[in-house]
Amino acid sequence: METSEVRKAIIPVAGFGTRLLPVTKSVPKELLPVVDVPAIQVIVEECVESGIEEIVFITGRGKEAIEDHFDYDYELEKLLEERGKDRELEKIREISSMIRTIAVRQKKPLGLGHAVSCARDVIGDEPFMVLLPDDIITADPHCTAQMIDVYEKYGQGVVSLMEVPQSAVSDYGIVTGESWAPDLTRVRTLVEKPEPDIAPSNMGIIGRYLLPPIVFEYLEEATPGENGEIQLTDALSKLARERALVGYEFHGMRHDIGDKLGFLTANIAHALRRHDLGPELRKYMETKLEGDLEQ
Ligand code: G1P
Repeated sequence: METSEVRKAIIPVAGFGTRLLPVTKSVPKELLPVVDVPAIQVIVEECVESGIEEIVFITGRGKEAIEDHFDYDYELEKLLEERGKDRELEKIREISSMIRTIAVRQKKPLGLGHAVSCARDVIGDEPFMVLLPDDIITADPHCTAQMIDVYEKYGQGVVSLMEVPQSAVSDYGIVTGESWAPDLTRVRTLVEKPEPDIAPSNMGIIGRYLLPPIVFEYLEEATPGENGEIQLTDALSKLARERALVGYEFHGMRHDIGDKLGFLTANIAHALRRHDLGPELRKYMETKLEGDLEQ
């Protein structure tokens, strides 16, 4: 893999996961499994395989297990070694040596923009990715790698876009702009979670951003919205106005695992792609699913 200018990524993991209660009362939503891999590991693997070298987790109370997951576990490794469980040992070692991670605590839940700004000192004066861990994207190459390609070609901030149903626009940051090249939009306006009847389009921002460091300055100047939150979308509006922002319609399938149905479809999609489970699951869906539905 060629080394790129984009070396660092921010992953905000301080959110509560209220849409998945009760399980998220005691389990951080980022550690819920996609088959047998915690969702956060799927996101971290996307970073690693796209050439990212350092990840900043923006954490909150009760999220320590996420840091532990990527840390060296001496007792577990020793136990697996003694019991001759070589395959499991290799997997566990791979996770702890996967990538350098840093955790920064977000002391108050003041919104996505505030979460991103907590990483300012660690990121410094470099372009950086932001990955929202609710969005699991299956894509080849990864969505992050696709966005790095766009950044390297055009040298401007990039947000990932997807057409969303009109009835769901109030769940997303919505953009307008003019078409620039295939799959690319020159973003002119952004509005956070508009009501469907006033939404200017149905192009929604998905949880992957590649941003220049000037965004930290815009976040510093941003005034909190009605609920006291600092929105990333407001800083991006300024970026679009004063510099440039590219909207990129990525190639791939996105699952919102912060939502019950998205959590299930992410699991099915990942299982279907796996050699050890895909063929059997496909067979089950083709031959036995109907039987289960009749019960
Ligand atoms: C955040 C952003 C929103 C974006 C969405 C993508 O909202 O604020 O602009 O469209 O992620 O998932 P959240 O889903 O965290 O409320």
